[in-house]
Amino acid sequence: MELLEELCRAGMRAIAKISHDEYSKVIGQGAGGERTKLIDFVAERAIISYLESIKFEGRVISEEMGERKFGDKDYPLIILDPLDGTTNATRGVIPYSISVAISNGPNLSNIYAGAVMEIPSGRIFKAERERGAYFDGKEIQVGNINSLKRAIVGMDVKAGGKFVKSMLPILYKAKLIRILGSAALELCYVASGALDLYIDIRDLLRITDIAAAYIILKESGATILNPDGSDLDWPIDLKRRISIIAGNKILCEEVISLIKRNFKY
Ligand code: IPD
Ligand code: CA
Repeated sequence: MELLEELCRAGMRAIAKISHDEYSKVIGQGAGGERTKLIDFVAERAIISYLESIKFEGRVISEEMGERKFGDKDYPLIILDPLDGTTNATRGVIPYSISVAISNGPNLSNIYAGAVMEIPSGRIFKAERERGAYFDGKEIQVGNINSLKRAIVGMDVKAGGKFVKSMLPILYKAKLIRILGSAALELCYVASGALDLYIDIRDLLRITDIAAAYIILKESGATILNPDGSDLDWPIDLKRRISIIAGNKILCEEVISLIKRNFKY
C-alpha cells in the first residue's frame, strides 16, 4: 500500500515541476489510444523511474507506455493511469488524478490494492482487499440514498442516438448531476458517498481509468455493474473499452431498470 501511495506522490511532484503552459504539448501516441501530452509523460516517467529505483520486479500496464516487464515475473502487475483527467489539467480545470492498482492475476477482480490521488489537493483514496477503503486515513463507505430522486449522480456523456435516449430517464429523475472529468476520481467519490452513483455507458473508459477505483469501490461496499446488470469484471487489457455503473445496490438496480427500457446490449 505504501508503494502505491509513493508512486502517486512521485507523479504529483513531477507534475508540480512543469509549468501549466507546457501541459498540453503533444509528445506522441499513447498505448491507450489518446495523444500523450507532456503532463501525462512527465507523471508516467517519474512513476516508472521510482519503480526502477526500488528494483521492482513484475509487470506494469500504463495508459501511455503500454506494457513493460521488470524482470521475468508476470506478477505482481501494476495498472497505472499516470494522469486521469488530462483535459481538465490542460484546460486549467480541477480536479484530476493519478490512479495506481496492483493485481496478482489477469482480471480486475484479482486487484488487491489501489490508490487514487486527487490533484492538486494531494488527498488520497486507498483500499486493500478485505481491509476497507480510506480517504485521507478515514474509513469510507458507499452512500445509503436509495432513490434516484434524492441522488447526486456523476456521469460522463457523449452525444449520440442510443446513448442519449437511454440516459434521458436518469437526467429527468436524478436530484443533481455532476460531470467532473476524471472517471477514477468520480468513482472514488461514490466510494466515499460524496456522489451517490456514477454512470458511464459510452463504452469508452479504459481498464487504467477504473482499476484502482474498482478495489476502492468494492471495499466501500459499492456494487459495480455492466449496463446489462451483470457484475463488472474484465481482463486487464488496455485495448478493452468499458462502460460502468457504480453505487449502492438499490440505486444501481433502479438505474439498470431505467436504461434497460431504452438500451439494447
Ligand atoms: C479520461 C477521464 C475522463 C473520461 C475519459 C477518460 P484520461 O481519462 O477519465 O473522465 O471522460 O473517457 O479517457 O484520458 O484523462 O486519462
Ligand atoms: Ca485515464
